[in-house]
Amino acid sequence: MTQITVALGEYSYPILVQPGALEKAAKHLGGFASNQRLFVLTDEHVGSHLLPRLERALDGSVIDLVVKVLPAGEASKSWRQLEMVTDWLLAEGVERSDTLVALGGGVIGDLTGFAAAIVKRGCGFVQIPTSLLAQVDSSVGGKTAINSSAGKNLIGSFNQPRFVLIDPLVLNSLPDRELRAGYAEVIKYGLINDKHFFDWCETNGSRLLARDPDALSEAIIHSVRAKALIVGEDEKELSGRRALLNLGHTFGHALEAETGFSGRLVHGEAVAAGMALAFGYSVRRGHCAAAEAERVTTHLQSVGLPYSLASASVRASGQRLVDHMMHDKKMSGGTLPFLLANGIGQSFLAKDVDLSDVASFLDETD
Ligand code: GLY
Repeated sequence: MTQITVALGEYSYPILVQPGALEKAAKHLGGFASNQRLFVLTDEHVGSHLLPRLERALDGSVIDLVVKVLPAGEASKSWRQLEMVTDWLLAEGVERSDTLVALGGGVIGDLTGFAAAIVKRGCGFVQIPTSLLAQVDSSVGGKTAINSSAGKNLIGSFNQPRFVLIDPLVLNSLPDRELRAGYAEVIKYGLINDKHFFDWCETNGSRLLARDPDALSEAIIHSVRAKALIVGEDEKELSGRRALLNLGHTFGHALEAETGFSGRLVHGEAVAAGMALAFGYSVRRGHCAAAEAERVTTHLQSVGLPYSLASASVRASGQRLVDHMMHDKKMSGGTLPFLLANGIGQSFLAKDVDLSDVASFLDETD
């Protein structure tokens, strides 16, 4: 069992990583069940196999579960579903001392966290992330949001959970594609500021994707530690430190937009290709040796992740992709800050990027 703290003064919280933790939910969640109940939000996929396990784990305890099962998928991060969830909470008599539990991946975590931020001006929430992406990234750090017709994650708030319970064993039932997509966010921590961890990924990536429990736990613990540290330093992405976590996301966002935020390219896959493009563009600008960028693409390719525009099946013009980027919420003063790299483990925020040069790069790269 490993416990990691996100150090944010009075908003500090623990993250527990423990294989089998879900089965010990009564012990871990007991302290959050004021009024002896917890409000659980999940989706129909996760709910069908993990909700019964959570219910069994709480059987015989004094905790009652009040459960809402939402449709699976990104479409649930909508005003309509948020309204439905908050209406349901109010109808069930939620109080500010109650705690919501997000049992699911990033969609459930984001929606639950935002509902917790606004219902009755705020109640607590706990994350039980059930995808690799949610375990290593979205459940930690308090970014909560829904989508609007103008774009993804544009309506939301920073709202830290009170506790994150990570059980790596729940990943056994995660589809291979989702596991691989989540692994892109694991690699990201190596590329940002930890070359040794990227070495570890090169050696252990296939073991992790074969669901070796030790490799999974090691990667989750390492990633969560890295993220907790960054969030503790720059909770609201003000100093530029937390922005490092967006490596690959600006290019990736353009690819996701071009593919209609659909199953053609899921978020982690777009981030994988986006990181390769960020390294490729860093080579073009003279920041990074070509051999370093090649190591990145080689590893992504070796584990079956997209590593280029072509492998992500995106064939749009550079200008069209840049137009997508300009809808990014990070646009500031008519330009976009980009995460580039001097090498593996040496990412930095560049604020002087000329978007027409990015468009030319995208036209010239495959
Ligand atoms: N996923 C990036 C962040 O949490 O800041």
